[in-house]
Amino acid sequence: MNLCVPNHMAIIMDGNGRWGKRRGLTRSQGHYAGAQAMEKIIDASIELGIKILTLYAFSSENWSRPKDEVNYLMDLPVKFFKKKLPGFMKRNIKINITGNIAELPEHTKKVLIESVDKTKNNRGIIVNFAFNYGGRDDILQAVQKVIHEVQNKHIDLCNVDEQLLEHYLYTKQLPDPELIIRTGGEKRISNFLLWQCSNSELYFSDIYFPDFNGELLKQVIYDTQRKHSIAE
Ligand code: IPE
Ligand code: IPE
Ligand code: MG
Repeated sequence: MNLCVPNHMAIIMDGNGRWGKRRGLTRSQGHYAGAQAMEKIIDASIELGIKILTLYAFSSENWSRPKDEVNYLMDLPVKFFKKKLPGFMKRNIKINITGNIAELPEHTKKVLIESVDKTKNNRGIIVNFAFNYGGRDDILQAVQKVIHEVQNKHIDLCNVDEQLLEHYLYTKQLPDPELIIRTGGEKRISNFLLWQCSNSELYFSDIYFPDFNGELLKQVIYDTQRKHSIAE
């Protein structure tokens, strides 16, 4: 069967901490395992022909976690990109970051900006990391920028419509995701892509993210597609 894959798929990568705990490991070891799973999912997405993959890696609410865990999550992109970037270049992967990167610690910000810059001419899959991302923050900062433009008379208030506001969102150059998957068993959106999810299909999986893999991803896409063809 030919799978009709989404153009833009987003994943709320949840369940790392519980995965670690269940194995008698630390939550941070769960995050490390989650980062390994991420690479498998990127490869499976390339194989499936997905054009844009958004991965929710750190939410604006995640700052309230214990300091050690936050520090680990801020260091993880440094380890991750240092190791994976040469492979990403070979696979023609373009890295994009969605979120408030200005507020990140210097070392985290630096590696994210460098990864975007080094891969900017790649024309394969776009892997969009939602890092320090919050849907409400996204909408709020877009509204603030629009107000600023209106006050400076660069935009006329009567021209402010959905299309214009979208241009100021963190995801401005990306289409909305057709499919959002959340692993880890919780049925919540957790402040992810609130504006952009208005027509997205939502799929909730009980699998902890470190156990998520290409086969399971294919199954999700097959299931969502089958549901559509039954409904038609
Ligand atoms: C998701 O896994 C990853 C991040 C939020 C960074 P969690 O850390 O939320 O794992 P659980 O949900 O506690 O198992
Ligand atoms: C959502 O997971 C955020 C990420 C996967 C980065 P959380 O574990 O932080 O969400 P809640 O706390 O269950 O809503
Ligand atoms: Mg969680």
